[in-house]
Amino acid sequence: MRFEPLRFEHLRQMAEIEKEAFDMPWTENMFIPELNCEDATYIVGTRGDEVICYGGFHTVLDEAHITNIAVKKGERGRGIGKFLMATLLAKAREKGVKHVTLEVKTTNLPAISMYEGFGFKAAGIRKRYYNNMYDALVMWLDV
Ligand SMILES: CC(C)(COP(=O)(O)OP(=O)(O)OC[C@H]1O[C@@H](n2cnc3c(N)ncnc32)[C@H](O)[C@@H]1OP(=O)(O)O)[C@@H](O)C(=O)NCCC(=O)NCCS
Repeated sequence: MRFEPLRFEHLRQMAEIEKEAFDMPWTENMFIPELNCEDATYIVGTRGDEVICYGGFHTVLDEAHITNIAVKKGERGRGIGKFLMATLLAKAREKGVKHVTLEVKTTNLPAISMYEGFGFKAAGIRKRYYNNMYDALVMWLDV
């Protein structure tokens, strides 16, 4: 697998991965503004033409907000998520980021466990953040 910057050609497969990963999946159209957004950094893990994983963040001053991170279903549990996250954090550091934040569904234990492994700390709960139904844990990391 190799990482490459986000391209239009990735979006269809990313939208498929979103559907299998989230209750409120991003669609191809929702990703389109990210292609030309100056504040956005996205990386896509590919094997040939196949999208395996992707992740991205938006930068404001010295803070990065992770917007998406997902690994294709059949590829999970093999260290790809960790590799993706480590690569995203390295990109954030390159951009002078000092603090990284994200939201994660309070019931998403694999993701929370991965974030804690990178040193993210829970900082609060956003009530009914997802679908006006499910709570989000807000996490921060100083890099
Ligand atoms: C969260 C996600 C990105 C992790 O990717 P992955 O490739 O499966 O993760 P890895 O194999 O690299 O494992 C990384 C860490 O995640 C945690 N983890 C992964 N699978 C887990 C599971 N089934 N149960 C508990 N923890 C798990 C562990 O802390 C693991 O670290 P360890 O191997 O040192 O114990 C992946 O599960 C995913 O895409 N989920 C759906 C999308 C999603 O929830 N994204 C996060 C939104 S905030």
